[in-house]
Amino acid sequence: MKRTLGVCYYPEHWPEAQWAEDAARMAEAGLTWVRIGEFAWSRMEPRPGVLTFDWLDRAIATLGAAGLRVVLGTPTATPPKWVVEKHPDMLAVDAQGRPRGFGSRRHYCFSHQGYREESRRITRLLAERYGRNPHVAAWQTDNEYACHDTVLSYSDAARRGFRDWLAQRYQSPDALNRAWGNVFWSMEYDDFSQIDLPNLTVTEPNHPHILAFRRYSSDQVVAFNRVQTDEIRKCSDAPIIHNYMGRVTDFDHYAVGADLDIASWDSYPIGFLSDRIEVSDAFKLRFLRQGHPDNQAFHHDLYRAVGAMRGGLTPSTGRWWIMEQQPGPVNWAPFNPAPLPGMARLWAWEAFAHGAETVSYFRWRQAPFAQEQMHAGLLRPDSAPAPALAEAAQVAAEIETLPEVGTAQARVALVFDYVSAWAWEAQPQGRDFDMFRLAFAVYRALRRAGLSVDILHPDTADLGHYALVFAPGLMTVSDPLRAALSRFGGIALIGPRSDTKTAELSIPLPLGPNIPGLDVSVVLAESLPPIADVPLEGGGRFLHWVEHLEGSAPVLRRTAAGEPAIMGDRLRYLAGWPDDDTLFAIVTGLCAEAGLPALDLPEGLRIRDTATHRFVFNYAPEPQAWNGVTIPAAGVHWEALA
Ligand code: GAL
Repeated sequence: MKRTLGVCYYPEHWPEAQWAEDAARMAEAGLTWVRIGEFAWSRMEPRPGVLTFDWLDRAIATLGAAGLRVVLGTPTATPPKWVVEKHPDMLAVDAQGRPRGFGSRRHYCFSHQGYREESRRITRLLAERYGRNPHVAAWQTDNEYACHDTVLSYSDAARRGFRDWLAQRYQSPDALNRAWGNVFWSMEYDDFSQIDLPNLTVTEPNHPHILAFRRYSSDQVVAFNRVQTDEIRKCSDAPIIHNYMGRVTDFDHYAVGADLDIASWDSYPIGFLSDRIEVSDAFKLRFLRQGHPDNQAFHHDLYRAVGAMRGGLTPSTGRWWIMEQQPGPVNWAPFNPAPLPGMARLWAWEAFAHGAETVSYFRWRQAPFAQEQMHAGLLRPDSAPAPALAEAAQVAAEIETLPEVGTAQARVALVFDYVSAWAWEAQPQGRDFDMFRLAFAVYRALRRAGLSVDILHPDTADLGHYALVFAPGLMTVSDPLRAALSRFGGIALIGPRSDTKTAELSIPLPLGPNIPGLDVSVVLAESLPPIADVPLEGGGRFLHWVEHLEGSAPVLRRTAAGEPAIMGDRLRYLAGWPDDDTLFAIVTGLCAEAGLPALDLPEGLRIRDTATHRFVFNYAPEPQAWNGVTIPAAGVHWEALA
């Protein structure tokens, strides 16, 4: 499959007379796709029932005439003022009980049935009008579910919906009381109508109450999205996509992915390094203009798995895009430096090497007005080229010359679970315990070893492709995965904090993990402040989290104090959160046992193998040597695999 580039465009921001020239310049730069429409509701329907699609007809025609393929977004992330006036209680409500006001975006509550119907209606109108339009070649539902912390809403609509959801899940208040342990602190209910949302309590709400609300809220995102996919599919055969975000675990992306043809995500490497990743100041300085060398890759692999959910695909072959690629400084991070020259190209190639079909830059021209006026585009506000335009054009030219880069089957897998992320947010037990952070730590060690990784859904029932499987931080190991692990012929490293809870976030009896073939129990867990660690025998240490293990499984590694640190055989339990070097040593030790070649890549140099090529990316701010080649800062190198 030929990889393609695209760009996000807002025809409603520019005079119509400019559209044709914009379209011609996009095509000239080698772009294939143009995403439009996702915030334009007030121009599609300025007043209730007054439809003004004529400009959109002309915009699509103009873009299409230039040879571009349109991704048409549904505009439901920005309900205009009249929609809010019609449904005043549709606003999301924060945990303090305050409505989230009109005047930016994403102000709706996912639970509000009236808004869900408005969203169905506008989606249906778009689908009916453009479902057979030859230029509309893909759809985007809404925009960045969860952005601006909008999945959890403590509204009346959410309270009503939650009570219904609880009644369906538990059937009787008694069953709910038992499942949650509500006898503790006299929290028992006689009727589902007595149950409130888990906010505004005196001290922490009961953890299963929080977890149930997280599950409920995630289900609302899935249901909201499905309304749109149902409407679009009635009128169109074009693939349907949503643009997910980086480091967002607020809803089950796999579950949304099951209703979509292609997953995509919005990659802002420099913005993320500024405020979403726990690294030292020295590291932030070194990668200030490049982003974290492993963060993009992690999300590429994660969303490839999400893109495999609709069936017939595997975590290695899932369909995914970058819908928004950072081109220059963004406006929203605490600090917003410009990328190093070359990064807008490097990020695109890295995505392609991980299997992306399309990389689409955000946005075409920097807007001189409104909230994002400081956000760069491929063009400056005065329409002169911004630096990323030439880089995008270079990638477009390179795509033409480079042979096919099909995805390879990875031999290493990492299980990632959204429910566990919610569980540990509800019950962190240690401030630094975070599901993303833990999974990303394992991922970084694998990347440093030069390994290509598949990320797996927690219900994965077949591990047959893999030699090594990592399953850190899984609240419960699902039955299919438990069975797959028991049959697994490779080596699996489970833990820390895996299978140590029931699905209701209680401690299982017998104590977990309860995986056939692994006679280990976690009998006590400790969390540690950043100033403390637990040294291991022979070097290395645990940070943040350490568990005390019992059982008859062989002890493979001990702490300096002689306690088990890793136990097991083929299936192994890891009793703590190793620091980066310790984790790397564990990973390379496992590779040696499994017969997988492992490297020790210098910081900033990262590789990814496709079916035919090895790609090497230099995230470092200085040149680095690779196999006799010097790769400049922000450089990309590829070589055919033997
Ligand atoms: C994304 C969003 C875009 C734009 C962009 C700015 O989160 O989808 O609409 O706001 O960020 O970086």
